[in-house]
Amino acid sequence: MTVRPPAPTAKRFTGDSAGIHRLVLDLRSGGIPARDPDSAVANRDLAELLRTRSPRLLPSTADSVFAPEPPAGGPGRPAVPFLPRERLLTPAEQRIAVECFARAVASGELTSGPAVARFEHALAEFVGLPHAVATSSGTDALVIALRAVGVGPDDEVIMPANSFAATENAVFACGAVPVLVDVDPGRHCLDPTLIEAAITPRTRAVLPVHLYGRLADAPGVRRVAREHGLRVVEDACQAIGVSGVGRYADATVLSFNPYKNFGLTGKAGAVLTGDSELHARMESLAYHGFAPGEKNVKTDLWGLNAKIDNSTATVATGLVPGLTLNNYRRAFLAHRYVEALAELGTAGQLELPAFTDDHSWHLFPVRVPAGEAARDALRVRLRESGIETDVYYPVLAHRHRTPLHEKLFGGVVLPRTEKLNATVFHLPLHNGLSVTEQDRVIEELHAAVHATGV
Ligand SMILES: Cc1ncc(COP(=O)(O)O)c(C=O)c1O
Repeated sequence: MTVRPPAPTAKRFTGDSAGIHRLVLDLRSGGIPARDPDSAVANRDLAELLRTRSPRLLPSTADSVFAPEPPAGGPGRPAVPFLPRERLLTPAEQRIAVECFARAVASGELTSGPAVARFEHALAEFVGLPHAVATSSGTDALVIALRAVGVGPDDEVIMPANSFAATENAVFACGAVPVLVDVDPGRHCLDPTLIEAAITPRTRAVLPVHLYGRLADAPGVRRVAREHGLRVVEDACQAIGVSGVGRYADATVLSFNPYKNFGLTGKAGAVLTGDSELHARMESLAYHGFAPGEKNVKTDLWGLNAKIDNSTATVATGLVPGLTLNNYRRAFLAHRYVEALAELGTAGQLELPAFTDDHSWHLFPVRVPAGEAARDALRVRLRESGIETDVYYPVLAHRHRTPLHEKLFGGVVLPRTEKLNATVFHLPLHNGLSVTEQDRVIEELHAAVHATGV
């Protein structure tokens, strides 16, 4: 089976990360983008701003493209939360979500209904693949994708150890076993050069994760997998909109839980593919093993009850036009962080991510080369200054303390992954982060590095 790459979109601005990256650099350097801002699902406001070349896309302070300033709290300098729940959706998005949900409730089409196919169509168009199955979560989508490519009991799936537990859980849910491989030094994602040594006769698939929104070496993973007849399921739950996602995998999994770049009003996800047979199997696995389009006629032994609700899909269809704007906001803020913290990077006090064009900036990771204790001291100091940070996945997949983990992963050593995990932390970066809040994070981080002497 071959995965056909989507047709190239010439120089149109399609809202993918490479286009957004160019836009951010153009705008940050004062240039005016000379690209055709045409996209069916790109944010209309952004397209309009581009068309009119409005200087409002050069926000040296917060403006309409960016999140409004949060309401002032008590006296003293306002705290900056890591991910404030009341701001997961902007006020405009909240209004859209409520209107869409009310429409779905009034129609009575709450579980299945026409918005599901509409949303799947919009997603497929956005990612550039012909088929999408929208699901009740990214986790369910991972299980469906793995089952659809043939992963079953006692198979092995090669994957990294630094991901959300959903990735390994999906493998376990198929009755298969994760085989953990170390990450590469640049992207901090599954290292394709280490895959071959992990392959056994039981290996069925490779499961790279685009961690924090940065594309793993997807072509490299694809190459090794093809040489060994393995299927590739990519966990792109954090990487919607990243150029290259969908091009090098048999199946691409996304998540739309409320904390993601494209977050909805509840749990949801999707799996996309370029293979129509795989698509049919995924549809069936997502809904009780029924033949697609047929009621209560099974083609498979079993299936989940894991299609997205029509009510959620109605909200999703309403919010899709804002997806590119949210990715743009994050890329813009990431660029500001990279610039404003550069001197700490040059001095070797922090290690910052590179501002690359294959990133959705789901998270902004910073490493403290001085080690775990220095990292922890820095975070304490930041917390005392009102800046909340996080370590997103504090326990690696092979370090959980269950009997099964100890049996499976007791002897596993992953030097790069372990070192990264002990020294990384994450700065606030979300769709609703205001420019002024970010300035505070930058200022306090400089002060904290100075005070703790990392
Ligand atoms: C890397 C990764 N994989 C899988 C998932 C699971 O997605 P969901 O929460 O939609 O089940 C998430 C999100 O939580 C994730 O970040």
